[in-house]
Order: sequence, then C-alpha cells, then structure tokens
Amino acid sequence: MTTNSKTINTGVGLRLPHLVEVVATRPPVGWLEIHPENFMANPHAMELLVELSRHYPISIHTVGISVGSADGIDRTHLKRLRALVDQIQPFLISGHLAWSTYRNEYLNDLLPLPYCPETVRLIASHIREVEDALGQHYLIENPASYVGFQSSTMKEPEFLSELVDQTGCRLLCDVSNVIVSAHNMGYDAYEYMRRLPADAVGQLHLGGFTPEPDFADSGSDMWIDTHAAAIAEASWDLYAFALQRFGPKPTLIEWDSEIPDLGTLAGEAFKADRIFQRTLSMMSREAPCASAP
Ligand SMILES: [Fe+2]
Repeated sequence: MTTNSKTINTGVGLRLPHLVEVVATRPPVGWLEIHPENFMANPHAMELLVELSRHYPISIHTVGISVGSADGIDRTHLKRLRALVDQIQPFLISGHLAWSTYRNEYLNDLLPLPYCPETVRLIASHIREVEDALGQHYLIENPASYVGFQSSTMKEPEFLSELVDQTGCRLLCDVSNVIVSAHNMGYDAYEYMRRLPADAVGQLHLGGFTPEPDFADSGSDMWIDTHAAAIAEASWDLYAFALQRFGPKPTLIEWDSEIPDLGTLAGEAFKADRIFQRTLSMMSREAPCASAP
C-alpha cells in the first residue's frame, strides 16, 4: 500500500464528507470500511471508491441487507451488492443482526429481534442466501440494544453462537455496542465477551455513543449508539480485553454523525493501534515459551 507515512493496522469508516480528501491525501490508516448504499447510487463517489480500492483494503458494511426481515432478502439489492463486490474485491463483508425492511419499505433503522430458535432458523436461512450470492463470508454484527422481548428464550451470545453453528458465518464484534447494550439492558459487558464464540470473531468495531437527552427528565440514563462522539474510556478498556480474548482482529473506528475532521478520525485510529500493539506485545510476553521444557 502506498501511503505518505507509517501505515497503521486500524481502519476508519469512509464517509462521503471525507471522500475527496482521502483520495487526495491518502491518510496512513490500515484500511477503509464503506456503507455500500452510500456509493451505489452515486457514480462520482463510486469512481473515487474504485480509485481508493487500488491503494487500501476495503471492507463493505451493509445497512440495506435485512437478515432479520420475515419478508426475506431484497434480491435486487443483493445483486447490486455482488456487482460492487466484484468491482472492489472487499476483504470483509458484514451487516447487522437486525431487521430494517417491511414489504417494500426500507425503515432506515436497525430494529431488534426476539432471540429464540425460530428467529435463529429465519436468520440462518438468510445468511446462507447472502453468502451464496456474495461468494464469501458475511460477518454478523451484535446490535446496540435498547429493549428486549419477553418471547426471547436465549441470551444474545448464545443466539450468535447458534447462528455460527448453523451457518458457519463469522461475527463482527462491535465493542462499543456491547458497552451500550450492557448499560441499557443491565448485564456485564466482560461476561458477554467471554460467552461469544471466540474463534468466529473476525472483526472489531469501535464507535462513539451518547446519553439520550429525551430520557433525562424521567430519571433513565439510556445510552444511544449515535457514532457522534469520540470513543469512550469504557470502550477502550473493553477493546483491550477483546484483543486478549479474540486475538488480533481488524479493527475499525466508526463516526457517522457530527463527523469530525479527518485528522481527529485518524487520531482515534492511531489510539486503537497503540492499544492493539501494546496488548499484543503484553500477550506475547505472557505466553509460555513453546520450546520450554
Ligand atoms: Fe458497528
């Protein structure tokens, strides 16, 4: 990869306000992740993305593939996504454990699902369909949770483990989503991480969250996964734990609203990289020597 200074391992989400500057300056981040829906209907942005794909590994993170929708997958969208995959050859493709379509309507939100065997079967069949259409693994991301269902019979880590067992899919662990969900739903974020199937985790996300002001008067202190702030200390701490538990995995900084200048975004990626390097060197010092008697 050609960059203008030392390249780091961590990637950043490529958002349209930064696109021209990233093409012009090629910041020394490790890779770029895109929301394909932002590019597929924008020929100029597509042209610049193809140019960037010659210089950076690209990961595709879909927001329009609704694996949790009872109506099934939008096959037209899937075909357009496959064409993009063939064009830019992403090293990872991922999407959310959520539903976002109803009949022909896109709801512009990531809506929650009850965790039960029936939902596992539905999503497993959709993951197989998506992976067959795209020709590679589709990583499923844990959501930020705000409500639960009385009909749920499984905890989220068990639900994700079951999906992995039934489909062979891999997981994208959004570390900040774990922090947000653990706070909102009242569970232990570290215990959640211990219960995820470590071998299936193929990527990590870090994003900013904010307290929900609408709930302040009610005495609630709900946290919202806004991607509108710097990464919280609790997320950095859990990130170091995630690296110890899952091993070195491609890590991405997400920032989608109140998007800062590119230098600030890259600064978060550098911070992640320092934790990545420090954690790995600590683990290598602690690991027993393989040749020791
Ligand atoms: Fe994420």
